[in-house]
Amino acid sequence: MKFFVDTANIEDIRELAETGLLDGVTTNPSLIHKSGGHFLEVVADICRVVSGPVSAEVVATDHAEMMREAEILRKIAENVAIKVPLTIDGLKTCKALTSEGAMVNVTLCFTANQALLAAKAGATFISPFVGRHDDIGFDGMEIISDIRLIYDNYDFETQILVASIRHPVHVLQSAKIGADVITAPPAVIRQLVKHPLTDRGLEGFAADWAKTGQTIA
Ligand code: E4P
Repeated sequence: MKFFVDTANIEDIRELAETGLLDGVTTNPSLIHKSGGHFLEVVADICRVVSGPVSAEVVATDHAEMMREAEILRKIAENVAIKVPLTIDGLKTCKALTSEGAMVNVTLCFTANQALLAAKAGATFISPFVGRHDDIGFDGMEIISDIRLIYDNYDFETQILVASIRHPVHVLQSAKIGADVITAPPAVIRQLVKHPLTDRGLEGFAADWAKTGQTIA
């Protein structure tokens, strides 16, 4: 399973990239706003740090304007994946862009039927938002299982990119279902590393090592 980080914060991206864990980045207009930077410059900076797909989202809602924005975003770097919303115009844009060889991430997906449409439109990635589903009292992960089943039934190559991840259990469930990619905030990726028994074990080893009076030299 590939790991993308869901942020436009370049410091977080740099730090996580150094671990070798990072396969890509997803951004959205809210994350760009939070970064405080200029959209095109932020995406260019991220693409200099990460060689995998970096999602940059169009903000237009009609097909022609989405295509115009996508053209600008695609010029930033080879690894930019154009993010389009799951609307009729978004699907039209997805079809047109993937036919030209661009990577497309169809976002704001909340049903397995929507994911089926994105795959038929040739999407590179489909982004079902599990956390936002959970927030309104549904089980977001059920949709991931349904999408996996449907995509496998028809050999769709669209990659399931589990988005709106809130905690490590979402990551574990995604891996068990066989999602292709997860995108998680930096804090959730860091949480995956942590375990109190790891910390306690490390403290114990350090204390006993100090008692030996040795150094590794
Ligand atoms: C995915 O590409 C989105 O940027 C993201 O996962 C949305 O997450 P949120 O529901 O935490 O805003």
